Amino acid sequence: SVAHERTAKENFREDFSKRVYYVGDQVWRIYKHNDSVNDLVEQHDQNGSYQIWSNHPLTVDIFVRSRMLYNVDLLLNNCRIKYEVLIKDVQKAIDDGNVRLTTAMEAELEGRKGHRMEWTSYHELNDIYGYLDYLANTYPDVCSVQSIGNSIEGQPLKVLRISNGRTNAPAIWIDGGIHAREWISPAAVTYIIDYLVENSDVLQTDYYILPVANPDGYRYTFKYDRLWRKNRRKGTLCSGVDLNRNFGYRWGGQGTSSNMCYETYRGSKAFSEPETNAIRNFFENSLANYKAYISFHSYGQYILYPWGYDQRLPPDYRDLDAVGLEAAEYMKYEGGDNTKYIVGNSAITLYPAAGGSDDWAKALLKIKYAYTIELRDTGKYGFLLPPQYIIPTAKEALAAIKVITSAIRK
Ligand code: ARG
Ligand code: ZN
Repeated sequence: SVAHERTAKENFREDFSKRVYYVGDQVWRIYKHNDSVNDLVEQHDQNGSYQIWSNHPLTVDIFVRSRMLYNVDLLLNNCRIKYEVLIKDVQKAIDDGNVRLTTAMEAELEGRKGHRMEWTSYHELNDIYGYLDYLANTYPDVCSVQSIGNSIEGQPLKVLRISNGRTNAPAIWIDGGIHAREWISPAAVTYIIDYLVENSDVLQTDYYILPVANPDGYRYTFKYDRLWRKNRRKGTLCSGVDLNRNFGYRWGGQGTSSNMCYETYRGSKAFSEPETNAIRNFFENSLANYKAYISFHSYGQYILYPWGYDQRLPPDYRDLDAVGLEAAEYMKYEGGDNTKYIVGNSAITLYPAAGGSDDWAKALLKIKYAYTIELRDTGKYGFLLPPQYIIPTAKEALAAIKVITSAIRK
């Protein structure tokens, strides 16, 4: 047992030394007074000065390391570009978001037999997987869990199927957590699961749900780096492939990088990554009748439809726009505090980015209602959305799924 203790301590020391800290780093919002601002901001993205967190139509949010604050301020001032500080100390925002469970909640979870899931805090991968397994064991008539493959570090990619066995039911695919740091996404998706299972007796639709599409990245954000986005492929200079640039439709186009050190690194070829490849294989072998393909991300509060690779619209975009608008309306109604979601084509509303899951689902799987939904917020906390917003945000996400479910039946 002494040997055992030593290992535990050593593990701790190792974890500790690999942790990434963000003390003094900031997030700024830049105002696009004119068209040249966007070009200038994109030109310096990831060259060491800052990283773009989110690019909105009128503003762009950038993450700036503390040692670069002075330089970036100078650059922006020289160009007379106005900005505002959104997050004054990123490390503090990370710590604030990592609130431990209350002792009462911890005691409650200890006393439970089945699983540790709840929606007042963000949960690690094991809790989410434990919850999926619990559902499959407890409700075998409606739930089943399947591992559709393994991540690059060998973790299973668990898909939950919820179905009450009606024949010829239409099907909806939902995924979350493609981007590791977008913690609200798996949290909202598991909340949707909870609702669907509770109401499974009336379901007319089959759901196939992958709450954590990037389990290695997700685990890495808990252990080492809260702001990690990509998967965990080891590279020579840098690690990670952006899984939402790795799908095989128009792979390698705009908004993607061939540089492995970039946040938008597309990988060596389409479906080079085990995570995206597993999703492709799953669909190739699935006989379900998919009508909608929904990927949950954060942040910005957008309901986005194809195409993402370029500012073009699919022939039936009006249908997607209409259902999107209906979803946005109901989300606002359910959200409680006047949350507004903007509906639009992905490349026009946000920015062009090729190799996304939505484009692939629409173009090659021919699933009509393909959406990427960017959950809360609009930038106050960005990826570091505090846990008290999980339930309100998840309610909005569920509202969107309800509207889409009813739309595909028409
Ligand atoms: N924020 C998402 C991303 O950058 C948006 C994806 C929208 N879809 C697309 N095909 N570009 O991955
Ligand atoms: Zn994302």
